[in-house]
Amino acid sequence: MKIGIGNDHAAVEMKNIIKEHLEERGFEVVNFGTDSSESFDYPVAGYQVGRAVASGEVDLGVLICGTGVGISLAANKVTGVRACVCSEPYTAKLSRMHNNTNIIAFGARVVGSELAKMIVDEWLDAEYEGGRHQRRVDMLTEIDETGALAAAEA
Ligand code: RB5
Repeated sequence: MKIGIGNDHAAVEMKNIIKEHLEERGFEVVNFGTDSSESFDYPVAGYQVGRAVASGEVDLGVLICGTGVGISLAANKVTGVRACVCSEPYTAKLSRMHNNTNIIAFGARVVGSELAKMIVDEWLDAEYEGGRHQRRVDMLTEIDETGALAAAEA
């Protein structure tokens, strides 16, 4: 499985820790964002990883900025992306099982590296359950692709 990883200047060290962790687990990791501590605009990295996931260049994405917020907002602007910010493993796991998230984000200024590894591991090890969740995920796709939601007009 291929994982795209991206970050801004606030998360270079954290990106490298998570990248190494993922590689140790046997994943192929494609590097986006920046490797420098010079100021780097988080929308660039969010968009790069979002586009890579949506196009199928990578299977899943990991995004890290100071809080995880800006970079996930950018990724979520790409059609086909379902990114969420998680500061603990429970939400990360459920976001995959129920919401079929394809990108996980977190803040390098919010969580420590060991907690970050747990968040990413729980997320990667979880599987989308489908079933009763599919109708709602389809609604997200409808909003994403059409800018509207028929069920909200009924
Ligand atoms: C950069 O200072 C910071 O704004 C960014 O990393 C992120 O937290 C934005 O959401």
